[in-house]
Amino acid sequence: MVSLIAFLPLLQAAGASAQRYTQETSYPSPWGSGGPGWDEAYTKARQFVSQLTLPEKVNLTTGTGYQSDLCVGNTGSVPRLGLRHFCLQNGPNGVGSTDGNSVFPSGVTAVATFSRDLLRRRGYAMGEEHRGKGVDVQLGPNVGPLGRDPAGGRNWEGFSPDPYLSGVAIAETVVGTQDAGVIANAKHFILNEQEHFRNHISSNLDDKSMHELYLWPFADAVRAGVGSIMCSYNRINGTYACENSKTLNYLLKNELSFQGFVVSDWAAQHSGVNSALAGLDMTMPGSGSNKPYNSYWGGALTEAVLNGTIPQWRLDDMVVRIMAAYYKVGRDKTRIPVNFSTWLNTTTGYRHLAAGRDNTTVNHHVNVQGDHAELIREIAAKGTVLLKNENGALPLTKPLSIAVIGEDAQSDPNGPNACLHKYCTAGTLAMGWGSGAADFPYLIAPADALKKQAEADGTAFTNVEGNWALDAARAAARNASVAVVFVNANSGTGTVLTNGNFGDRDNLALGNGGDNLIAAVASVNCNTVVVIHSVGPVLMDHFKTHPNVTAILWAGLPGQESGNSITDVLYGKVNPQGRTPFTWGKTQSDWGITTLIESDDKLPETDFDEAVFIDYRHFDKKDIEPSWEFGFGLSYTNFTYFDLNIKATGTPDYEPATGETSPAPTFGKVDKNPASAMPPPDFEMLPKFIYSWINDTHIPCYGRPKLPEGSRDGSAQPLLAAGGTPGGNPGLYETVFTVTASVENTGSLQGTDIPQLYLSLGGPDEPKVVLRGFEDVSLEPGEAKTVTFNLTRRDISNWDVVSQNWVVTPHKKMVHVGASSRDFRLEGELPLAASSDPEVQNSYRV
Ligand SMILES: *[C@@H]1O[C@H](CO)[C@@H](O)[C@H](O)[C@H]1NC(C)=O
Ligand SMILES: *[C@@H]1O[C@H](CO)[C@@H](O)[C@H](O)[C@H]1NC(C)=O
Ligand SMILES: *[C@@H]1O[C@H](CO)[C@@H](O)[C@H](O)[C@H]1NC(C)=O
Ligand SMILES: *[C@@H]1O[C@H](CO)[C@@H](O)[C@H](O)[C@H]1NC(C)=O
Ligand SMILES: *[C@@H]1O[C@H](CO)[C@@H](O)[C@H](O)[C@H]1NC(C)=O
Ligand SMILES: *[C@@H]1O[C@H](CO)[C@@H](O)[C@H](O)[C@H]1NC(C)=O
Ligand SMILES: *[C@@H]1O[C@H](CO)[C@@H](O)[C@H](O)[C@H]1NC(C)=O
Ligand SMILES: *[C@@H]1O[C@H](CO)[C@@H](O)[C@H](O)[C@H]1NC(C)=O
Ligand SMILES: *[C@@H]1O[C@H](CO)[C@@H](O)[C@H](O)[C@H]1NC(C)=O
Ligand SMILES: *[C@@H]1O[C@H](CO)[C@@H](O)[C@H](O)[C@H]1NC(C)=O
Ligand SMILES: *[C@@H]1O[C@H](CO)[C@@H](O)[C@H](O)[C@H]1NC(C)=O
Repeated sequence: MVSLIAFLPLLQAAGASAQRYTQETSYPSPWGSGGPGWDEAYTKARQFVSQLTLPEKVNLTTGTGYQSDLCVGNTGSVPRLGLRHFCLQNGPNGVGSTDGNSVFPSGVTAVATFSRDLLRRRGYAMGEEHRGKGVDVQLGPNVGPLGRDPAGGRNWEGFSPDPYLSGVAIAETVVGTQDAGVIANAKHFILNEQEHFRNHISSNLDDKSMHELYLWPFADAVRAGVGSIMCSYNRINGTYACENSKTLNYLLKNELSFQGFVVSDWAAQHSGVNSALAGLDMTMPGSGSNKPYNSYWGGALTEAVLNGTIPQWRLDDMVVRIMAAYYKVGRDKTRIPVNFSTWLNTTTGYRHLAAGRDNTTVNHHVNVQGDHAELIREIAAKGTVLLKNENGALPLTKPLSIAVIGEDAQSDPNGPNACLHKYCTAGTLAMGWGSGAADFPYLIAPADALKKQAEADGTAFTNVEGNWALDAARAAARNASVAVVFVNANSGTGTVLTNGNFGDRDNLALGNGGDNLIAAVASVNCNTVVVIHSVGPVLMDHFKTHPNVTAILWAGLPGQESGNSITDVLYGKVNPQGRTPFTWGKTQSDWGITTLIESDDKLPETDFDEAVFIDYRHFDKKDIEPSWEFGFGLSYTNFTYFDLNIKATGTPDYEPATGETSPAPTFGKVDKNPASAMPPPDFEMLPKFIYSWINDTHIPCYGRPKLPEGSRDGSAQPLLAAGGTPGGNPGLYETVFTVTASVENTGSLQGTDIPQLYLSLGGPDEPKVVLRGFEDVSLEPGEAKTVTFNLTRRDISNWDVVSQNWVVTPHKKMVHVGASSRDFRLEGELPLAASSDPEVQNSYRV
């Protein structure tokens, strides 16, 4: 429902981008209407919201301030109806800022399993842990950053720079988390691709790339029923993400028909009225410097409804969306009291820390880990990518002696939780730093697990702990049957300067002298195995090609069972199935992306001129030979592929959505008498707490602000052609082709293969290939299985900016099935039938 799309040139941009990128707008903000998976929740939510007063409604939209209550984000509550506040908590890889929780493999490792089942089970287990702590909204999973910049500080919290793979991963995680009774939060919406200038940088991007790349996984999250989405810190084409009506109103709530609520990243809100009209539904942490209410919302939002600037339907829509997410995941049935404090690690202390009030038991130290350790160990082992394995180096079988070398194999001498949010990790790297980090219950160091294995095998074991004692490393390595060197590279949020990095990596080299350590060991041991724990790719061609480096493994960020997981892989208890979810270039310039690290501009900008050509799409386009390509990974066994079959399913034609929404509904009556929005006379307010009451019955008139055209229009709106139901037009998700291929295990060990389907969409300016299917297939030696890939209409389409819809272009489309993005084993053409309909003559009828 877009009554109007306006085009304004970028306000502050003096340079070339002013012509190329426009600040588009779209109003009014679409009101939620339910739909598949949401109808029952909407009925309950509307019924509940109908009973609320104006200050009660506003209470649910506004955080009560930084450190106002136990969680990292806390809304107001509705005491009259027994509804406690919403608790929002980090994060994407485990419950943050508490104890008794697990630390899961980070997204980047979980996705490397290429296993839908493991991704879903991980989501469920994380959901269970959040539920057990009393959390309502789990702040994750992440697909923003997507991973445009290989040095991007927060890529590891998310999954992969490939949108299809990230889309599958986020959908499985959302379903898992929400099945456990917790609202998932897909973040950060959108184009939040670097940490330098994180609060103000503008990411400028064209509409086609938005759809085909960055919006794609969010569409999958919405289709999976995600209850909430976090708007990001950055600007898009010059407008802040949390007041960007084009991205929130048009793309998310209209085209993708998102039915849950949009919450701001912490302090990412920059306006009250504007953000409300542009589609923001909840502000976090709620506090801001604005007088008199110390918030953009809270009392100010109540005032804006009373004075008529914000229509009641928009406020009601915010609250219905919030409560619908609550009912959708069954929070009304599974909610327990919050039993931890984000801010304190003592058992007792102030519940309302900012206010210094209510000294009570804040940490009940509830153990929520269940049996998740087993799953964590399995995911980290299966997500380990075997990049090189020569001379039968791996798996190890009772070697005479083993030397384990490097700080990255050791326990942190100060414990695994030495610093807040992992800002100072020493020892083995099992997760990155920042708000996405969680505290470890324990962390199994590789050296400890390998020592245990060596003892059981009667293998002589030596361990060199530092990275700088090269003589000791050489001495230990010289006589060992195998030398295993552990190295790492870390990154995180750009909130503090950590190891000289402001979130993003300054370069893609190994940290802490890792390259010298490998060189020293490999100079004396012709069976050197390198294990890399890293947030993303590192430059490794120099040791990849070293003749004495017989094996290389990327063990990503494995979580708490690190040592056990890598031991399982090195000794063949788990046959690696991991495939690299990103490309490993030979030099940083290979990726064609530069992090903006210096700017005199208060409002710096980056033009995403590379459009859809990131990661392997870029390497393919420029014909750059990587060290290892996207999708690559070895096994201890071998697989062959045969029998490709492509069949059209005969699905009916694609129908653009037509018709109109109903007019914006309202729920309950707003009492326009300001006295009704004042606090009860005897109410004792907590200091520094954000309330939704106004504090003066005299509502000041500031003069009607200049509001965007159409922004208060609650009349019926036309549907967008590509919209209609959560995730977009349901026709986009219909299977239009099935592709089958057979895989056989021709080696001598059981193993899991990941056959991958790539599509060439054809056309002059399209990527050579894009990933459009994968499967994990477990095979005994000699066994063969047939794998089926479903190609949906979206999978074979391109975004057409003119018709604002997905179209199947007339270009020849080739299907490739193989073992990586550059190792195709089978090939066939999609049998497209030209349409007889002159209206769609330029496209194909599928
Ligand atoms: C940014 O500008 C480009 C080029 O005009 C346009 O295609 C795109 O839709 C704009 N995006 C937003 C969010 O305004
Ligand atoms: C808003 O929430 C706060 C904090 O939970 C609570 O003290 C206050 O009573 C609520 N206001 C209304 C109008 O219910
Ligand atoms: C904490 O959570 C547990 C369940 O995980 C629940 O039984 C308990 O009541 C909660 N504790 C408090 C003090 O709310
Ligand atoms: C309203 O609240 C603001 C900030 O909380 C305060 O500065 C102001 O004095 C209050 N006004 C009244 C009439 O209480
Ligand atoms: C109504 O209140 C809001 C919030 O204080 C303010 O931003 C807006 O300018 C007000 N509108 C009028 C007409 O005074
Ligand atoms: C608890 O927090 C304090 C202050 O934030 C910190 O100094 C201390 O090391 C923490 N203790 C533990 C056991 O984490
Ligand atoms: C809270 O209460 C506990 C136990 O009664 C006491 O030890 C502690 O000092 C108190 N904390 C504060 C901040 O007053
Ligand atoms: C390595 O082996 C050589 C020859 O067997 C021996 O002389 C030397 O002491 C050994 N060094 C270490 C560090 O074990
Ligand atoms: C490989 O290791 C052997 C010792 O086993 C050493 O003599 C040789 O120089 C090494 N090769 C390189 C290229 O460092
Ligand atoms: C896999 O195939 C390669 C080459 O075809 C061969 O060298 C290797 O021994 C095979 N490995 C296994 C485990 O069968
Ligand atoms: C493919 O479609 C079939 C039939 O609808 C379904 O059973 C199967 O789960 C689908 N596979 C995937 C990977 O979505």
